[in-house]
Amino acid sequence: MWKLLLLLIYAIIPTQAKRLSCYACINLVCYSPHDRIFIDQKLSGQLAVDRNANIIYYHYQDNGKDFTKAFDLTKATSTVIPLNFTFAHAVDQSTGDLYLSGEKGIYKYNPKDNNTELYALKDRTIWHMQFEDKLYYTEFKHKGLFSINNKKTKEITQLSDYQIDDFIIDKHDDIYFMRRSALYVFRNGTKKPELFQDEIYFLTTDKNGEAYFIQPYTRGIYKINYRTNRMIEVGAFKRGLAFKVVFDSDNHIVFYESTNKILYFLSPVLSKCTVTTRGVGRYLRKVVVSRSTRNNGKNRRTHKSNSL
Ligand SMILES: *[C@@H]1O[C@H](CO)[C@@H](O)[C@H](O)[C@H]1NC(C)=O
Ligand SMILES: *[C@@H]1O[C@H](CO)[C@@H](O)[C@H](O)[C@H]1NC(C)=O
Ligand SMILES: *[C@@H]1O[C@H](CO)[C@@H](O)[C@H](O)[C@H]1NC(C)=O
Repeated sequence: MWKLLLLLIYAIIPTQAKRLSCYACINLVCYSPHDRIFIDQKLSGQLAVDRNANIIYYHYQDNGKDFTKAFDLTKATSTVIPLNFTFAHAVDQSTGDLYLSGEKGIYKYNPKDNNTELYALKDRTIWHMQFEDKLYYTEFKHKGLFSINNKKTKEITQLSDYQIDDFIIDKHDDIYFMRRSALYVFRNGTKKPELFQDEIYFLTTDKNGEAYFIQPYTRGIYKINYRTNRMIEVGAFKRGLAFKVVFDSDNHIVFYESTNKILYFLSPVLSKCTVTTRGVGRYLRKVVVSRSTRNNGKNRRTHKSNSL
């Protein structure tokens, strides 16, 4: 009897708690943690997703040891990739092959054979990569953006004077990149890049190749409005500071929150949310407010989940 009662309580409480706690609010949709991929581990390098298999790849350090792992977001299981230290990660969505950068060189991992082999550039240190028809990469502490196809490298000459910290290539083949603390865009078919925003952002693309930007201090989430080519605010994260964000095969968010060293994957829950801002000092603080929409508005509760 006791056990049954406890079971009932446990069955009810977490769902209610989940419904009320938005970790991110995007386009008025509240996202709550579906699960944690890991907690208390120091992630470094890029996150990459195989959007057909719904597998996320990442590297972290534990007790001074390096691990590169694959986490299956559907089955919630993880497996070790046979290459310990890796930094840049990019998936060719058409083959499922994962490209990884080691201390030096680019490696290629074939998930079917569970086999990693050196792919190219064995004496170079690679910084970031993205696969978009071909593999694009930047080199650590070097200027420029390069692509590599059939092991032949090619420089995008218009960007050869730019020290690129992070970059994405969107569905129009426009390249957005961070240089020092400003965001630039190099539009497909134009002659040179232009300054786009004078702030720091974390960059990512979603399942449809649309460009997203996360401002680490305000936790605001922005994207490109493809009619105006301008940046619009679409939501915010509730907590955390330095973000790494990727969209999975359902176009849901996986994000690493470095304050608490947790890699979460989020799913939308049945409640609406809004984002408000309050000016606090130099940075605007975003407040994610969630409204439960259960019972057709009966018992409507407003829950302010202000972090910090
Ligand atoms: C792949 O290889 C690594 C290292 O040998 C091993 O730890 C891991 O379990 C393997 N994964 C699969 C899916 O077989
Ligand atoms: C990779 O890490 C495993 C587990 O820590 C260790 O046994 C192995 O020797 C490492 N491999 C290399 C090449 O460092
Ligand atoms: C990029 O521009 C070229 C010509 O300038 C065009 O053929 C191509 O379709 C564009 N790419 C995308 C993804 O729109």
